[in-house]
Amino acid sequence: MTLTFPEGFLWGAATAAHQVEGDNTGNDVWAVEHRPGSPFSELSLRACDSYRRYREDIGLVAELGLGAYRFSLEWSRIEPAPGSFDSAALAHYSDMVQECLARGVRPVVTLHHFTSPQWFARDGGWLSPGSPSQFARFCESLSNVLHEVPVVCTINEPNVLDEQAHLLADPVQPAQASLARSHLLRAHELAVDVVKGFGVAEVGLTVSMEEVRAVPGEEDAAEAYRYRKQGSLLERLRDDDFVGVQAYTAVLVGRDGLVPPAADERTTQTGWRVAPSALASAVREAAAVTGRPVHVTENGIATADDQQRIDYMTSALRGLHYAIEDGVDVRSYFAWSLLDNYEWMHGYGPTFGLVAVDRQSFRRQVKLSGAWFAGVARTAAVPA
Ligand code: GCO
Repeated sequence: MTLTFPEGFLWGAATAAHQVEGDNTGNDVWAVEHRPGSPFSELSLRACDSYRRYREDIGLVAELGLGAYRFSLEWSRIEPAPGSFDSAALAHYSDMVQECLARGVRPVVTLHHFTSPQWFARDGGWLSPGSPSQFARFCESLSNVLHEVPVVCTINEPNVLDEQAHLLADPVQPAQASLARSHLLRAHELAVDVVKGFGVAEVGLTVSMEEVRAVPGEEDAAEAYRYRKQGSLLERLRDDDFVGVQAYTAVLVGRDGLVPPAADERTTQTGWRVAPSALASAVREAAAVTGRPVHVTENGIATADDQQRIDYMTSALRGLHYAIEDGVDVRSYFAWSLLDNYEWMHGYGPTFGLVAVDRQSFRRQVKLSGAWFAGVARTAAVPA
């Protein structure tokens, strides 16, 4: 028995600029990586060298038979000083879009994936009242990059970025997540208007989601956690073209907050519970709260055991299929990630990729899971 996905369902893989490009010396995360006592376990350095090797990366997506590539723009390259735009960087991203289109790959472009220019951080970053209009000005520079792009994600995971915004500010500020959230949502609204004006068909943002489980008797605490973490953001997305769901794991909420995985529970290289059921749970919740179509913009697992990745994704996709059978409008599934890349504070240790990257030579090597995922995309099916 196989579970076949609907006609037109889009299969893709995702990356983010800072995690793959390399040498993003002008952004806030690069600055934080280099701060004394930085929480980052490693420097990003040349990452996967994808700013140079993007044709090869898009070629890999095409060779795997995937219909879409989700990547992000590096604001600090495009606008290295306030109001001044780098035509070479803009041409670079236009070229990425054109390369995708030429290879039959739909470009799904994220405008902001965690990183901002250092000048923006010095203004207070997302805590500054000027941040939404600064972001909108950046968006206005993108008409040539985006006019043939079918799907745009404005901001990646505002519900994660809001918690980090004070640490990315230069100098660091006290935490003010709700202020950052309000600026991020305003920036999103402004960006939607700008990008819609370029003729982009589908514009939305992506939400970091978890399957929220309750310790018996602690259902109210779990519901409060769920609302804080994702529900309150989802409620704000009811006017968007779609909601982008990014789900990896399940959390357990007890009386005193999150209960860490028990000693006998399997965890990933990032210390998360192995919980492929998180995807269907997140997709159902996102659709129920927003009433909008869903793109699964990220799902995957950090593991050195490639068979475990295949098993995890198979199970996640089964759950996704059942959600679709139940009437949830899901349009796509993007594996996180195309490449083993820079996993932020965890550095290069955790490997989420369908494709391995040699840290010295940058040589790419498709893993078994990459070949397996190519088969899923070709047949649009997983075993029941
Ligand atoms: C995020 C991102 C990615 C991560 C991925 C794995 O959620 O942090 O969008 O940048 O690499 O989720 O942790």
